[in-house]
Amino acid sequence: MPFRKIYAVVAAAALLCVADKAICQVNTVDVRVNALLAKMTLEEKIGQLNQYNGNWEATGPVSQVGDKIAAVKAGRVGAVLNIMGTEHVKAFQDAAMQSRLKIPLLFGQDVIHGYSITFPIPLAQAASWDMEAIERAERVAAIESAASGINWTFSPMVDIARDPRWGRVMEGAGEDPFLGSKIAVARVKGFQGKGLGSPDAIMACAKHFVAYGAAIGGRDYNSVDMSLHSLWETYLPPFYAAQQAGVATFMNSFNDLNGIPASGSSYLQRDILKGKWNFKGFVVSDWGSIGEMVSHGYVKDNYEAAAVAIQAGSDMDMESGSYIGHLKQLVTDKKVDVRLIDDAVRRILRKKFELGLFENPYRFIDAKREQTLLYTPENLAVAREVARKSIVLLKNDQHLLPVTSGKSIGLIGPLVKAKRELKGFWSLNVNLGEDIPSLMDGLHAQLPDAPLLYAPGCGITDSSRAGFEEAVAVARKSDVVIMAMGEAPDMTGEAKSRSSIHLPGIQEELIKAIVATGKPVVLVLMAGRPMVFDWASEHVPTIVYAWWLGSQGGYAMADVLLGKYNPSAKLPMTFPRSEGQIPIYYNHYSTGRPPASDTDRFYKSAYTDLLNSPRYAFGHGLSYTSFAYSDLKWERTGKENIKVSFQVKNTGDYAGEETSQLYIHNIVSRPLRPVKELKGFKKVFLQPGETKAVTIVFTKEELCSYNEKLEKVVLPVACQIMIGSASDDIRLQTATINNIFSEPL
Ligand code: NOJ
Repeated sequence: MPFRKIYAVVAAAALLCVADKAICQVNTVDVRVNALLAKMTLEEKIGQLNQYNGNWEATGPVSQVGDKIAAVKAGRVGAVLNIMGTEHVKAFQDAAMQSRLKIPLLFGQDVIHGYSITFPIPLAQAASWDMEAIERAERVAAIESAASGINWTFSPMVDIARDPRWGRVMEGAGEDPFLGSKIAVARVKGFQGKGLGSPDAIMACAKHFVAYGAAIGGRDYNSVDMSLHSLWETYLPPFYAAQQAGVATFMNSFNDLNGIPASGSSYLQRDILKGKWNFKGFVVSDWGSIGEMVSHGYVKDNYEAAAVAIQAGSDMDMESGSYIGHLKQLVTDKKVDVRLIDDAVRRILRKKFELGLFENPYRFIDAKREQTLLYTPENLAVAREVARKSIVLLKNDQHLLPVTSGKSIGLIGPLVKAKRELKGFWSLNVNLGEDIPSLMDGLHAQLPDAPLLYAPGCGITDSSRAGFEEAVAVARKSDVVIMAMGEAPDMTGEAKSRSSIHLPGIQEELIKAIVATGKPVVLVLMAGRPMVFDWASEHVPTIVYAWWLGSQGGYAMADVLLGKYNPSAKLPMTFPRSEGQIPIYYNHYSTGRPPASDTDRFYKSAYTDLLNSPRYAFGHGLSYTSFAYSDLKWERTGKENIKVSFQVKNTGDYAGEETSQLYIHNIVSRPLRPVKELKGFKKVFLQPGETKAVTIVFTKEELCSYNEKLEKVVLPVACQIMIGSASDDIRLQTATINNIFSEPL
């Protein structure tokens, strides 16, 4: 949006305020912001736009800027990150209180999956498809962080990701814009609770704006080249959902999108976010991303970078020092209009007012509260519940699971005794004394008298087979073998892209050696991404995907393996058969030559050396029980909604929860739509033999698409409604429906 337009909107609001007292009262925050702004020098304004890394573990390359406390006192810092604990936070806020205008600091932190209690990594939580559970997890994270002095989390990451080589898939909700949008809302609601101003609400931050998940080749920080159609269809929706849910801040991204670094993109930040979407919060850059426009080759130095970024709508500079170093000169040189700076400062101050920091800059800094609210038994119970809801049962041939009592269990693999590893990447070392139960601890706690034999067999990245013999001996002595294998926790996360996502080291060989004993094998895989484990998928009868489950991981895994909890999770991301299939996702287009089957290759859109289908499809996840579907009906309710109903029956022997998924199968659509699109889901808990009616409503808006002019108008010409237990396990479907919202029924 051109600046003149932005300024006109701000000025009109101020005039209204002068003319009408009632509006003034409603708008007291804006009035207070304007009054404060009027007192600020240009240097102080620029200080508010500057964010420094603090004194904790750095989450990026730290710039050497001298005495940061002195900079805070001089009013040259608006926010800090990586300072945790009320004691440390207080030292910085004390310094801010010694600055001329005493403007409180914001304290940002990557609270990605819990603060002192670690929850499952976000991708694992996404597998729960349980919005209440996810919101509860973030509520706990917010309560703990707020008690520890933090008032801003750099979360949720709502980047759609279809390339499991990208290390950051662990931080998001997977590949689907519909599921991703629902999860974005749940997370924002969890962090921001009853709204900024409540003592346990912290600001959320939707990141990374935008399309970072589509980095070419899955290589972190890489460029993104994408049609605007894909951007609007697939990558923007979760951000829009977060904005609609009231997210306080956005973070831009490291990548360039179609030749323009995101931090310098007016199209993204001014036209879309602050213009079309009317976002009132502020945008923080990613770590150093404003300065990195020099390395991109978009600007020649940090002076130019600062000009481009502020013009493009990046309000706060995280760690690049470009704003603090150059904005003043840019104003003097008449290269930057001070009204741009005022707009950014207003946005930041508004959030500080809304958080209640001007009433009490120390409201998040209460050592007593910190002591009582961190790591409570009630919140640990929430972590265990969310962890078991995140575990995906990929395969259970021969019904080896749940393991029944009385069996001798052999535990084999490098992750059987893993404890801190279960926290995964982006976990915080707040509770250094934390004793995290391993898988072995979890089993032992529930089977105190059972003989648990153990041999690691190999390490995660080992190349030595020296431990195989002992492991094979353990397997021979056991009735059932549980193997705990996978990646190391730092193989996913920022700057952790991998070209091979196979099981590292010689783990696959160990699996082969144990399977060769003929003993029944249950494979538990831990990782932050979908891995490739094709041989195991073919030859191991039972496979459980346990991601990184956090503080209660061992207990949660034992709950599932022993049947105390019947698994209900579903994959939020497609699992490929090989890296060669990447990018792979369920919601692709049909193409002009779609194969009729997995082996139909004759001049078809297929690989000649690999099946087309994935190893495990989006939405896949088994239960110890089975579910039957029947009685699909649909009707239009009013002009805008379609109501779909069906019955689900538990046909097995265990009580369990099914996540029923509603897909639209697009048969004819102009422009094209993906073959299948998730448009709704419902979780239903059923006792054995029980049947329940399930209703899912979707809206006209949700069926819309974008035409070539990026207008949101197009509906499918002909489609089918499908109900499934997974995207590749459709149980019910309607006949073809033409013009779903307008034809007579
Ligand atoms: C860089 C990461 O991309 C971002 O997600 C994170 O919030 C910042 N560093 C701060 O740690």
